[in-house]
Amino acid sequence: MFRTNTCGELRLADAGKAVTLSGWVQRVRRMGGMTFVDLRDRYGITQLVFNEETDAALCGRAGKLGREDVVQIKGKVCERESKNSHLPTGDIEIAVSELNVLNTSATPPFTIEDNTDGGDDIRMKYRYLDLRRSCVRKNLELRHRMTMEVRRYLDSQGFLEIETPMLIGSTPEGARDFVVPSRMNPGQFYALPQSPQTLKQLLMVAGMDRYFQIVKCFRDEDLRADRQPEFTQIDCEMSFVEQEDVIALFEGMAKHLFKTIRGVELTEPFPRMPWSEAMRLYGSDKPDTRFGMEFVELMDVLKGTGDFGVFNNAAYIGGICAPGCASYTRKQLDQLTDFVKRSQIGAKGLVYARVQEDGSVKSSVDKFYAPEVLQQLRQAMNANVGDLILIMSGEDAMKTRKQLCELRLEMGTRLGLRDKNKFSLLWVVDFPMFEWSEEEGRLMAMHHPFTHPKDEDIPLLDTNPAAVRADAYDMVCNGVEVGGGSIRIHDPELQDKMFKILGFTEERAQEQFGFLMNAFKYGAPPHGGLAYGLDRWVSLFAGLDSIRDCIAFPKNNSGRDVMLDAPSRLDQKQLDELHLVLDLKEE
Ligand code: AMO
Repeated sequence: MFRTNTCGELRLADAGKAVTLSGWVQRVRRMGGMTFVDLRDRYGITQLVFNEETDAALCGRAGKLGREDVVQIKGKVCERESKNSHLPTGDIEIAVSELNVLNTSATPPFTIEDNTDGGDDIRMKYRYLDLRRSCVRKNLELRHRMTMEVRRYLDSQGFLEIETPMLIGSTPEGARDFVVPSRMNPGQFYALPQSPQTLKQLLMVAGMDRYFQIVKCFRDEDLRADRQPEFTQIDCEMSFVEQEDVIALFEGMAKHLFKTIRGVELTEPFPRMPWSEAMRLYGSDKPDTRFGMEFVELMDVLKGTGDFGVFNNAAYIGGICAPGCASYTRKQLDQLTDFVKRSQIGAKGLVYARVQEDGSVKSSVDKFYAPEVLQQLRQAMNANVGDLILIMSGEDAMKTRKQLCELRLEMGTRLGLRDKNKFSLLWVVDFPMFEWSEEEGRLMAMHHPFTHPKDEDIPLLDTNPAAVRADAYDMVCNGVEVGGGSIRIHDPELQDKMFKILGFTEERAQEQFGFLMNAFKYGAPPHGGLAYGLDRWVSLFAGLDSIRDCIAFPKNNSGRDVMLDAPSRLDQKQLDELHLVLDLKEE
């Protein structure tokens, strides 16, 4: 028997017991005639003690153990003389009488402790060692508990867990597909699902009524802290439902998770915010509502009321009021200006105005505006003495709002308003059905082409499609989109119309979605659903900065798995079998 107990289990009440433990050597310390070894496994750390006086040879062998050697010991549980209140097992130690080295370890490339000396790259290359660290392992344990609670909740609500294939055709989610060549069908490719969207709709046609799946999805898009090329959705679909039914069910799931995992009882319904309001007040469809600092539009106050050409030519001027920040130094303001000018944000500049002790306003554009106008600015911003007003403008209103959004988040961070232990949830609703794509030169579905327009907006499909709103909803928590879904079109005629507006020819619509259109001829029930991003939920609950930390084997920012060294080249034989010829341009 390898062990009678784990390394996290024994307590003072076990004193006197003979035990066998197995695990990894975390640390070896020699003190006087004693050798102490910290033995670690998934469950914790237990101190082993070897006494020279009792068995000099054994104590000598223990002293030679290396970090991460795998050992088995037999011994007796004893009360410790100097207790360690930081360890659950800190009241006891094992007086060892037998030591078996099960396997030796090469010297690990970094220390396997929470406070490691290993940088990001090396830890990713040796991720299996990184996962031995309790702070990383805890994230996977949390992930496990969350998926268990998700299954428990959805099962209690009558959902069936059904698997859908990974090798499918292209799905229209808006990102690029990862594709897989088919050996048996030369020149043809599968696509990995960006989500099981169309398949879950087919399951509704099949009468499954309530489906869910905790499922891998694949999207070839630029990576960020909350995006991985393969990630996991809690994907659901329901028949005979309206938006309210879906929202109630998934709000219920969020509440269940908060209660069972965080011990927080959320009783109130989550607030709802129309998309247009979210864009107006926060410049984002996923506003961080843990703090205020909402946008104030300043076109009336600052456009044409002074000689500042930048504002006079702007399509949007907006400001935020940073409380108590009038004392910001020149250097701090320059830093903020540099922040908004960074290439990822791309603003041309930043205007500021301080509300001084005497109530006057001192601004970087003083010379262009009369003091009365600056007072009007102060009033519009509702700014108090000691506040700092930050203003951005631009010729593209949407773009400028997004830039101001980044500034607002940065100020929220600087002022400590984005507390990871505070959760602010809301539904963003009434999304526009379409958005204009510069790249494609046509309207694109904002959510996906199967989303149902709001009933009252259906007449606008013929006259002003850009104004049509959708029965689509996102759940947002602390500025992160944790889920999104919609009511779907189940009427083939309406779906046809949608494809036309999206610029699909009949042949292309048939080619890409014929299977779905066909299925809809055979009695599709009204249906709708939602998918939560599991990785995002886990990282929010764990307070992580990146979803990478709650994924066992994540990709880096270039989409590489540095441990497996993937992606990698294929040898010629494999390429030949797949009928592939590479045409690589010179690097
Ligand atoms: P959507 O594209 O909004 O909807 O995705 C649902 C949720 O999945 C998460 N998510 C991601 N998480 C990590 N990395 C990514 N690259 C990534 N992309 C998305 C987000 C998001 O809210 N089929 C629809 C759902 C539906 O309509 O039912 C869909 O996939 O948390």
